[in-house]
Amino acid sequence: MTRDEFRAAAMDAIDLVTRYWDGLEDGPVSSDARPGALLAALPASAPERPEAFDAVKRDLVRLILPGLTHWQSPRFFAYFPCNVSEPGVLGEILSAGLNVNGMLWSTSPAATELEIRVLDWMAELLGLPARFRSDAPDGRGGGVIQGTASEATLAALLAARVRALGSAVAPAGSGRLVAYASHQAHSSVAKAAMIAGVAGGPDDREGLRLIETDGELAMSASALAAAIAEDRRAGRTPFFVCATVGTTGTLAADPVAAVAAIARAERLWLHVDAAMEGNAWVCPEFRSSARGLEDADSVCVNPHKWLLTNFDCDLFWTADRASLIRALSVQPEYLRNAASESGSVVDFRDWQVPLGRRFRALKLWMVARMLGAEGLRAHVRRGVEMARAFASWARADGRLEVHEPCRISLVCFRVRGEGPGADARTKRLLERVNATGRVLLSHTTVPARGNPCGPKRFLIRVAVGGTFTDERHVREAWDLIARELGSLD
Ligand SMILES: Cc1ncc(COP(=O)(O)O)c(C=O)c1O
Repeated sequence: MTRDEFRAAAMDAIDLVTRYWDGLEDGPVSSDARPGALLAALPASAPERPEAFDAVKRDLVRLILPGLTHWQSPRFFAYFPCNVSEPGVLGEILSAGLNVNGMLWSTSPAATELEIRVLDWMAELLGLPARFRSDAPDGRGGGVIQGTASEATLAALLAARVRALGSAVAPAGSGRLVAYASHQAHSSVAKAAMIAGVAGGPDDREGLRLIETDGELAMSASALAAAIAEDRRAGRTPFFVCATVGTTGTLAADPVAAVAAIARAERLWLHVDAAMEGNAWVCPEFRSSARGLEDADSVCVNPHKWLLTNFDCDLFWTADRASLIRALSVQPEYLRNAASESGSVVDFRDWQVPLGRRFRALKLWMVARMLGAEGLRAHVRRGVEMARAFASWARADGRLEVHEPCRISLVCFRVRGEGPGADARTKRLLERVNATGRVLLSHTTVPARGNPCGPKRFLIRVAVGGTFTDERHVREAWDLIARELGSLD
């Protein structure tokens, strides 16, 4: 490609993206692709001769786009949002073009220093305690961008292990390590425990104990304390607890302050997974769930969910960078350099599992500057308002039961009634609404209030917060639900 051809193709690509966004207003949310359809349409081998951008673009439009789920559709309400934004896309383009690898300070000094500064900005915007900042008075804190919350949780768990044992390997005679999270915690906690060798598999309840929750699906602090005491009596070594603020199922928030008090008394590492809800902390009125963070060892938030920053971007802060670095640092000869050896720079390869790293700070910097704190707060507030409107319509409909408390930007509900009949009807409602192709909703299952060990109830989830979602889209989702409810049986 000549530079001129590249420039023209790049303009064309942006034009395609813009038209794609415009088309989302009326288009379907999900794809009706059949398994194997795209595989059958693609040649088995890569082309021998170079092809023109136009030819590739044609196939993108003809073959690929119809097989996508349109996460940026304003009527996408499944899982959690995965925000796009103009500054985020511009940041991605620039970072792709520059394509630097910021594994060490010396491999791109500005990439590292921009990341340090932007993470401090974000810590301030979210109202995080000063101990997580790179310039914390004791010099022990700091933030780093990880790809995902799963990587952040793994990094936290590995740091916790090093702090508990003095090394990554348990000294002879030390008891089995035990991690704790509520049974509503994200599956990435179990995955981290598996990867670290703390749990033998996803169902190993000795290495990772899933603590029962209260009626609001928040971790019971007294059950956590009892589990730790039981494990100590059995000769095991409790070392890590993950509190979730904004669970994936229902956005339930664990009581961080109470969990932190236990973690401190028991010398456990406390990691706070605020992947979704942490974004709401940009607004002071949503910060009550952050109480207790001043005693946490680490916290993660995903702006790629709800803070208008393109995927992927997870913010991970720790107040004990030394343990993190001890867990993740290796020093091959070929990466040795004077700056690292001077001890005066940060090498982010020591703060993450991979060595190489994308220049993700650029897009976050652009998002923060081009939207401003004001723009970020407005986005979160709009999402919360729309979710509240939806919840009020659902509460007013006697055929439905809304899961309470209905927190922040997520509404969970089911068809009223007890037993398998109500569950089956709720599932059917979800299938019918999604089959229209106009909206996409997802589901979760939760224990019934007051019966944490009993059968689970099926809930439909409506997660508001898409970049292009307006009240009319939320209204359309509600109208569809009400219509399908009317013809359920
Ligand atoms: C509370 C919570 N933690 C962790 C994750 C995993 O996030 P990621 O895909 O960034 O690993 C999710 C995903 O939705 C989540 O809701």
